[in-house]
Amino acid sequence: MENYLKAVQITEKVWWVGAIDWNLKEFHGYETARGTTYNAYLVLADKVTLIDTVKAPFKDEMLQRIVSVIGDPARIDYIISNHSEMDHSALLPEMIAEVNPEKVFASVMGVKALDAHFRIGERLTAVKTGDEISLGNMSVKFVETRMVHWPDSMFSYVPEQKILFSQDGFGMHLAVDKLFADENDFCVLEQEMRKYYANILLPYSPQVQKLLEDFPGLGLDAAVIAPDHGPVWRGELLAKPFEFYRKWSAQAPENRAVVVYDTMWHSTEMMATAIADGLRANGTGVKQISLNARPRSEVITDVLCAGALIVGSPTINNQMYPVVADVLCYVRGLRPKNLLGAAFGSYGWSGEAIAQINEQLAAMKTELVSEGLKVKYIPTDADLKACFDLGEKISKMLSEKIK
Ligand code: FEO
Repeated sequence: MENYLKAVQITEKVWWVGAIDWNLKEFHGYETARGTTYNAYLVLADKVTLIDTVKAPFKDEMLQRIVSVIGDPARIDYIISNHSEMDHSALLPEMIAEVNPEKVFASVMGVKALDAHFRIGERLTAVKTGDEISLGNMSVKFVETRMVHWPDSMFSYVPEQKILFSQDGFGMHLAVDKLFADENDFCVLEQEMRKYYANILLPYSPQVQKLLEDFPGLGLDAAVIAPDHGPVWRGELLAKPFEFYRKWSAQAPENRAVVVYDTMWHSTEMMATAIADGLRANGTGVKQISLNARPRSEVITDVLCAGALIVGSPTINNQMYPVVADVLCYVRGLRPKNLLGAAFGSYGWSGEAIAQINEQLAAMKTELVSEGLKVKYIPTDADLKACFDLGEKISKMLSEKIK
């Protein structure tokens, strides 16, 4: 096979040798409309070190980039696995077999996870927070970052190059042709990083906050942050990922609401629009999301900075709409906090959906502001006025709450 792909130089001795997945549409339930990258890095120290690998179908792409820097992949002495999830680890057994590195490092939990995946435990060396290894003329310092976002997650830092390899942390699903954050549209970076945080890291916000709190004492004087997805942070933008994580992990409610629903014959949609108008009329920002048109990952992304979640569904065969159950299951698992909640929907003869939605909203500890609004078949003017009034009520409660 001809070698035509190139690595990208990041610092004097560190190269990006990852892969660009322009066409990824979905990542375990999360819509990835802008694709992603799988970032692997090569440290050209006395001991040549590969940091992470890429998703299995992109093996040739990674190998070609490695070859463009060191000629023969067998020159790799060490491999460090910062995260055991398959988009970074699936190639590890093959790389170990083909490259035969002297050592492969992973966190204590990483060794367990990688062994459970691939039965390669005997080839792995466990490292923990504070451990350092020598690469000859350079070194690597390790920090375990448990549950940010898997038990095995770990940061690796090369002080001689001032580069922090942060695995999924500070990353995003975004395919980029230019590797550095400062070469890309910052608005897009913020959107995609927020989406990544909401869909991947949100349940681990307490761990994120602890990591941010501990960070200044960890001795990681990084000038470059190199995550496993999306662009690499440096220069004036270096503080941005910390700023974003500080804000999102706090989950402080803003004067914004998400009205999410599906509809059978437009009655529930009419209710959604009236509720949204009641909110908007009182100055609350609203995102009205029809699940017929939008994916679940967009809902949680908007919920991240919202103060209210209002959910609507018709009743079908004594149940809420399956797509509404889907989004409630997804959002509940991501554990958003500090939300006001309410349910609404049209029904024909039983109307169980409202109680079912309330049950899910209560389970995710939203503060329910009403028993829910039920409308038989098609809303009357009075019904729509009640919907508008519910929106107004939630808006006023939210304004009070965030004062
Ligand atoms: Fe990119 Fe948690 O894997």
